[in-house]
Amino acid sequence: MAKIPVIKAINLSKTFKLSKDNEVIALHAVNFEIYSGELICFFGPSGCGKSTLLSMLAGLQPPTSGEVVVRGKNLANYKKKEISAYRREKIGMVFQQFNLILSMTVLENIALPMAFGGMKRKRRMQRALHLLEVVGLGEKKKSVPADLSGGQQQKVAIARSLINNPWIIMADEPTGNLDSKSADDVMKLLISLSRKSKRTVILITHNPEYLQYADRIFRMKDGRVDKIEVNAKTTKVELVDSVAKLDKLKDVDDKSSDDSKDEEPIFSSEIGKIEDEKKEVLSEREDESNEIPAEEDKEAENVEPREALSEKEDESKEKEEIKQ
Ligand SMILES: Nc1ncnc2c1ncn2[C@@H]1O[C@H](COP(=O)(O)OP(=O)(O)OP(=O)(O)O)[C@@H](O)[C@H]1O
Ligand SMILES: [Mg+2]
Repeated sequence: MAKIPVIKAINLSKTFKLSKDNEVIALHAVNFEIYSGELICFFGPSGCGKSTLLSMLAGLQPPTSGEVVVRGKNLANYKKKEISAYRREKIGMVFQQFNLILSMTVLENIALPMAFGGMKRKRRMQRALHLLEVVGLGEKKKSVPADLSGGQQQKVAIARSLINNPWIIMADEPTGNLDSKSADDVMKLLISLSRKSKRTVILITHNPEYLQYADRIFRMKDGRVDKIEVNAKTTKVELVDSVAKLDKLKDVDDKSSDDSKDEEPIFSSEIGKIEDEKKEVLSEREDESNEIPAEEDKEAENVEPREALSEKEDESKEKEEIKQ
């Protein structure tokens, strides 16, 4: 049976209309396929369309024309709720800015994407601690972001991106704000997530040094994927052993599932702060203007088992995303 790509772009185009007769064509009919477990680097000069492309792959904005097909299903056919679930559960996003909330501990930051999702507090915090260990920073559980180096903060942001055990990690210039040693550490972590934990990693980088670690390099120019290069032999790197713990996330859930009494929302005292600092919080925002036509969902192939959420819980998640 033919292998199904995790993500496929078909004639993907994006035009921004700036005014009546002024528009920017950010992407021109881009085509590619990305397979499970690959580490892909998008590389190209500033303004060539890398971030625009990534945000469309993540379902953050719709294409002007063309399709993003995720495990055989066109994102344009997802219901709004399904798009939210896709972004929340299947994708972990990392940016150049760490977007951590400074008044929260690193554990609280990691657990934040689940704060309003109906998962019990103990379980959320155990998950967060487990993920902090996955990125090798277990001893920093009581720290606040200001106590950490830039590289450590980015690792916390990566841990947060893994909170729902996503298939795909999308990283837009994750090392752009880091000194070279920290940048190398963060890269090692991302490479390990691909090679050791078999996650699909889609990375935008300006650093040509990192291209040697990619399975394939998508070179972009003027809104086009100009060339796709295969690295027949990727450069070896010392992998981060702790990422193997990501596969044990379910065990953490099982251990804490008897925590039935603890129903209170996490960080109730922090919700005001979240409101105040919401501008700093990650990008996964609803673009209300881009409603996607409804069609019944059939669960995509190879979907990892997820805990069933009640309609009500789902709705409350959606409301929170909209609020952000
Ligand atoms: N929301 C927007 N409105 C108007 N134009 C936009 C918007 N987003 C991107 N563009 C334009 O689309 C083109 C591609 O931008 P994009 O941010 O994707 O480039 P990039 O390759 O990520 O660049 P960089 O390496 O500097 O981050 C640019 O000309 C940019 O100005
Ligand atoms: Mg960019």
